Amino acid sequence: MKITVAGATGNIGSAAAQALLEAGHEVRVMVRQPAKVEALVRQGAEAVVGELEDADFVRRATAGADGLFWLTPPQLAVPDVAAWQDQITANAAAAIQANGVARVVHLSALGAQMPQPRGFVHRFAITEKALNLTGATTLNLRPGWFMENLLAQAGSIKDQGKLYVAIGADIPLPLISTVDIGRYAAQALTAAEAASGFVPLIGPDILTGHEIAARLSEVTGRPLEWVAVPPAALGDVFRGLGASEDAIRYFIELFEDFNRPDGPYGAPLPEAVRTPTTLEQFARPSLLPLL
Ligand SMILES: NC(=O)c1ccc[n+]([C@@H]2O[C@H](COP(=O)([O-])OP(=O)(O)OC[C@H]3O[C@@H](n4cnc5c(N)ncnc54)[C@H](OP(=O)(O)O)[C@@H]3O)[C@@H](O)[C@H]2O)c1
Repeated sequence: MKITVAGATGNIGSAAAQALLEAGHEVRVMVRQPAKVEALVRQGAEAVVGELEDADFVRRATAGADGLFWLTPPQLAVPDVAAWQDQITANAAAAIQANGVARVVHLSALGAQMPQPRGFVHRFAITEKALNLTGATTLNLRPGWFMENLLAQAGSIKDQGKLYVAIGADIPLPLISTVDIGRYAAQALTAAEAASGFVPLIGPDILTGHEIAARLSEVTGRPLEWVAVPPAALGDVFRGLGASEDAIRYFIELFEDFNRPDGPYGAPLPEAVRTPTTLEQFARPSLLPLL
């Protein structure tokens, strides 16, 4: 099959493109910097260069495709998050319709099922609805909390033995590896029968911050502590990374909800497809080399 992959230099898009190539499919990767996908191109992928904000680029990139993997990339600097996301979603929807793309797998998030989601989770629910209306058979993946989020803690793990996260240490997090999400996306895009609707995805480990710190202590051989910081403290962190005030508001709402019993990770979690990679299998090759 011919599959176009958005975000192909990122965690999930790169894993999806790799899995699609390994399964013998024709893969077109949408990228901003082609140098980042040289390895995929060597394996036979076609790289098309452009930005998701460019409707013509998205249409060209999906011409002749049987399937599309789509995600809304994190965009910290945009002054109006909703307007920017609506624009790129409209670009995807128009391209899917213009090119008659039969299948779409969209990266959403656990929590999109909530009656009144806030922050970025609210935005996922809106994008799901827009893509569901395109006429393509659309499957919305709703993964839990990415293990890759922990890599941002490598510096403080190394220097202080602490993980500073704006989520309470007793809140169970439905962890998942992004490689598993990418592989699942590749399978869903090329399965004999296309699935539609949504699928919650969670790895084998649902762990609290205390439990994550204990398990990573075993892997790293050093005592570790999970330190919960207040979500409001994220303002200065994201400001330092160039985030707009609007994006900061979305992040703070997201993390406030992670701390709520009725938030995206509140009990009961929806019944989910369980993906294979454990925290240890993720941490040994990914976290250890950073320490
Ligand atoms: N973190 C979590 O726990 C969690 C949980 C559920 C869902 N999510 C969602 O997962 C998504 C992130 O997935 P990921 O980790 O695979 O992303 P990622 O590693 O941050 O990669 C983002 C990709 O999008 C590309 N990109 C960014 N802006 C672009 C633009 N304007 N035009 C074209 N391409 C652009 C990037 O290209 P460059 O290499 O050129 O930058 C990169 O390939 C987000 O939607 C996030 O909300 C996250």
